Amino acid sequence: MDKGRLIARYEQRLPRYTSYPTAPHFGPSVDAATYAAWLAALPAHETVSLYLHVPFCRTLCRFCGCHTTAVNNPATLASYAGLLRTEIGLLARVIGRRLKVSHIHWGGGTPTSLAGADMIAISAALRRHFDIDAATEIAVEIDPRVLTADRLAALAAIGITRASLGVQDFDPSVQQAIGREQSFAETAEAAAALRAIGVGSLNLDLLYGLPYQSEAGLRATVRAALSLQPDRLAVFGYAHVPWMQRHQALIPEAALPDTIARFHQRELAERLIAEAGYTPIGLDHFARAEDRMAVAARAGGLRRNFQGYTTDQATALIGLGASAIGALPQGYAQNAARVPAYRAALDKGQLPVARGVALNADDRLRRAAIERVMCDLALDLPALIAAHDAAPDALDDAHPALDALAADGLIAWDGEHLAVAPTARPFLRVIAACFDRYLPRAANSPVPARHALAI
Ligand SMILES: C[S@@+](CC[C@H](N)C(=O)[O-])C[C@H]1O[C@@H](n2cnc3c(N)ncnc32)[C@H](O)[C@@H]1O
Ligand code: SF4
Repeated sequence: MDKGRLIARYEQRLPRYTSYPTAPHFGPSVDAATYAAWLAALPAHETVSLYLHVPFCRTLCRFCGCHTTAVNNPATLASYAGLLRTEIGLLARVIGRRLKVSHIHWGGGTPTSLAGADMIAISAALRRHFDIDAATEIAVEIDPRVLTADRLAALAAIGITRASLGVQDFDPSVQQAIGREQSFAETAEAAAALRAIGVGSLNLDLLYGLPYQSEAGLRATVRAALSLQPDRLAVFGYAHVPWMQRHQALIPEAALPDTIARFHQRELAERLIAEAGYTPIGLDHFARAEDRMAVAARAGGLRRNFQGYTTDQATALIGLGASAIGALPQGYAQNAARVPAYRAALDKGQLPVARGVALNADDRLRRAAIERVMCDLALDLPALIAAHDAAPDALDDAHPALDALAADGLIAWDGEHLAVAPTARPFLRVIAACFDRYLPRAANSPVPARHALAI
């Protein structure tokens, strides 16, 4: 079937599957007491990873889908840094022992909105309560436009090992439309400065599907990004969800590329990056062949969590900060999304958990199926079912949808083993969705508008 008909058939609003069940299915049944019990039950030898959310940026980019607000008041920023330190102390008391940490991820928003001294104080609090050593990966999301000398020195002091720089697109007309003006020179300067302080792995984020983006412009952006020799690249499709992110109403919708144009933009970026020697990873990442992520992907050791793709093997992820999500073996727990509610809980000495979901055996099985599809682009169903001690027919409800995908050439599927066709990477969310028990299935059921388009 030709691409246009495949896209028309499968284009729908779907989750990005950074968790399963996905966040819209979280509810109030998971509260601070539940989360505290889950944390206390972590085995003493457990290695955990930590995610710190900083929901602030200097200005808000019109396209942004992240949980963040424009804040520049130093007192507000310092007060939030204090809350993070309070939360670290509270978590340490609940956990009751020093857990070893494999990964720390500072995300946002823009974590480097915090003053350098506050970043160092937060890092010191973490090191006081958790076992963090030279092997711990410390990743930070960075906006190159606001990387001051003070922040750079702080990043060196906290031991940053991996940096992720937001780029999006270098074309001035696109930058103007998305409210993010960022020159190639300041991006290159930030990349060089980070390498100079010893950052061993550098990632750049690019977007396709933006207003006024043309194939020629995207080609120039990808080539400019490649000239910085990043270790990894993420190429995300712009998720336009103005009913959830009100400021996206400022995006000129008439200038957005349609689904077919988006598809071609994605193909173009993918081709240029692959020609430069990068390995495609999962849905939207690329890595140099010798990069840890490419090595993990080849060995079947890639994982997917709220930060996207990761090499982190920890079975417990503890989220800190407003809206941060923890993923423990027992389930997911999300902190209060807004800072006042987050602060109110901490002021009372309580974990600021607002909602979440406990996993049952069926959730775990489907979560594993979806993660392997999103990471390996392949799935051995009998092996998965055996590993989970599930009934042989536990995932049979996925078969009709998988049969249809096979008939359309998107997967190879013999009823037991699934392999995504090399050209079907853009359809990965559609393939993973076959295992999602919570997604409305019936042909006439309204697809929830909460997700962005899948292709
Ligand atoms: C937290 S930001 C990165 C760090 C920093 N705040 C910056 O923008 O440079 C995370 C990334 O999410 C991506 N992103 C944000 N909004 C998006 C949207 N609506 N659709 C797709 N990707 C988006 C962008 O590529 C952005 O670089
Ligand atoms: S893209 Fe980055 S800098 Fe822009 S608003 Fe979102 S989080 Fe902030």
